Amino acid sequence: MEKRKQVLSCIQPTGDMHFGNYFGAVKNWVQLQEKYDCLYGVVDYHAMTMPYTVKKLRMNTWELIFNLMATGIHPENLFIQSLIPEHSELCWIFNCFTSFGEASKMTQFKDKSLQNKEGGGNYISVGLFDYPILQAADILIYRADYVPVGKDQEQHLELSRNIAQRFNHQVGKEFFVLPETLFTEVPKLMSPADPTRKMSKSLGEKHYINLFAEEARIRKQIKSAVTDTGDTPEGEISPGIANLFELLKACEKQEAHDSLMEDYIAGNLKYVDLKEAVANALVELSTQFRARKAALQANKKEVKNKIKASSAEIRKQAQQTIKEVKELTGLMNVRF
Ligand code: TRP
Repeated sequence: MEKRKQVLSCIQPTGDMHFGNYFGAVKNWVQLQEKYDCLYGVVDYHAMTMPYTVKKLRMNTWELIFNLMATGIHPENLFIQSLIPEHSELCWIFNCFTSFGEASKMTQFKDKSLQNKEGGGNYISVGLFDYPILQAADILIYRADYVPVGKDQEQHLELSRNIAQRFNHQVGKEFFVLPETLFTEVPKLMSPADPTRKMSKSLGEKHYINLFAEEARIRKQIKSAVTDTGDTPEGEISPGIANLFELLKACEKQEAHDSLMEDYIAGNLKYVDLKEAVANALVELSTQFRARKAALQANKKEVKNKIKASSAEIRKQAQQTIKEVKELTGLMNVRF
């Protein structure tokens, strides 16, 4: 049998997971597990690149593990980045295979530097500048063929391919696989409180719907979701209404979507009916996820041990890559 293609993606541990994260990325990750060999990392080294607190970092890392498992990510595919220190070792080596000029072109660095300043950060760390090179190490260390990420990460993927190519050229061997971005059609979900902006944690609590929220909270958020602001041109659908329809579709309630859309087009849609349908669909999902998360949390120790074991197993692949990289670059290997 032909070896399955390797998929890899990572996510930063930064608190609550919301429906935008789920429909935008995680749901796709769950499905990819059927067709590919998948590895998914909770990248805590990356989370240190912006101002952070020790307690929160540790808490968010485990919280994210529970959240990912509750949505259907298999524990054997999951790792915690800092349990595989070879990522940072490869990052150092890649630092020496990356020109300062190309690293300086990264637009996410510019955005995050600004965010850092506005958020009251005292300084911009060298780690934030180095972040895309660590990301290249995350990807290349497992020889990933496909990396499912959003469009905003395309520039980082391009950098990863450049690093791989430069490395291969300098050592005279097709050693690293050039990773491809795996784009999938994902719904673009907007903030219920301001449907002209993307659903996001950074905007504040009103602006995202927690994937594990209690029923009452979801119903309240949908009930107060902005619908018409009065400035939508005649014949166009307002961002708020469009977002509610989009949510319904994302929840795979196509039939309800279509029949409510017919009402809308006919001009007799009652917004309460649309909101009711959306709230029901979201509650149905969050109820499932909450139950699974509770079951996992009832066996915290066991789950944590499982993830430590899977990280140790995945680490073997990373160690093998590092061993070969050290040989190719003239560095010394410790026998293990
Ligand atoms: N930079 C990614 C983001 O902001 C997170 C990330 C870190 C990542 N390492 C990765 C994504 C490796 C894919 C592969 O979303």
